[in-house]
Amino acid sequence: MIELLRKRRSIRKFTDENISPEFISTLIEAALRSPSSRGSNPWEFILVDEPELIIKLSEAKEYGSLFLKNAPFAIVVCADSTKSDVWVEDCSIAAIIIQLTAESLGLGSCWIQIRNRPQNDRKTAEAYVQELLGLPEHIKVASIIAIGHPLEAKPPVPAEKLLNARIKYNQWA
Ligand SMILES: Cc1cc2nc3c(=O)[nH]c(=O)nc-3n(C[C@H](O)[C@H](O)[C@H](O)COP(=O)(O)O)c2cc1C
Repeated sequence: MIELLRKRRSIRKFTDENISPEFISTLIEAALRSPSSRGSNPWEFILVDEPELIIKLSEAKEYGSLFLKNAPFAIVVCADSTKSDVWVEDCSIAAIIIQLTAESLGLGSCWIQIRNRPQNDRKTAEAYVQELLGLPEHIKVASIIAIGHPLEAKPPVPAEKLLNARIKYNQWA
């Protein structure tokens, strides 16, 4: 696991190669094995592989989502907000589990924040995605994970750059 964490970087450029059905089923299994508060499992995952729909999803935000248009696959991480008061945490855990599983398969991925982000002056990114995918109002959208075979290689963050000062023992000071 630590080797995977050392290697993982956000990948925003992908080859044209599709994700194999075997890899997709591994990603699904990983997502569904995510822990959640009180075991309420409030998440809903929308798997998107239609190129036109991916292009429309890439327009969810003015910045930070456009790179999605070149990805072959995306998982929209949503939750039934009536099932848990901590669905945001549950979705975040599922999202990072999806990303780490993608990394373990040699795939690249990047998180696209949707919750609390605008699409433009008039609409939230969440409302845009809800409309596009036909989600009912109580199904909230946390993020989109873009996934594909990497077309860029990024070096691991060197150990010397880790924020060791953020680690405290027993007390703040
Ligand atoms: C909560 C969260 C939201 C993020 N939102 C976006 C986003 O909307 N667009 C994007 O391109 N990257 C997004 N990222 C990726 C970060 O920019 C990236 O993880 C960070 O710059 C560190 O780089 P690394 O992942 O390569 O280590 C997000 C990451 C997290 C954890």
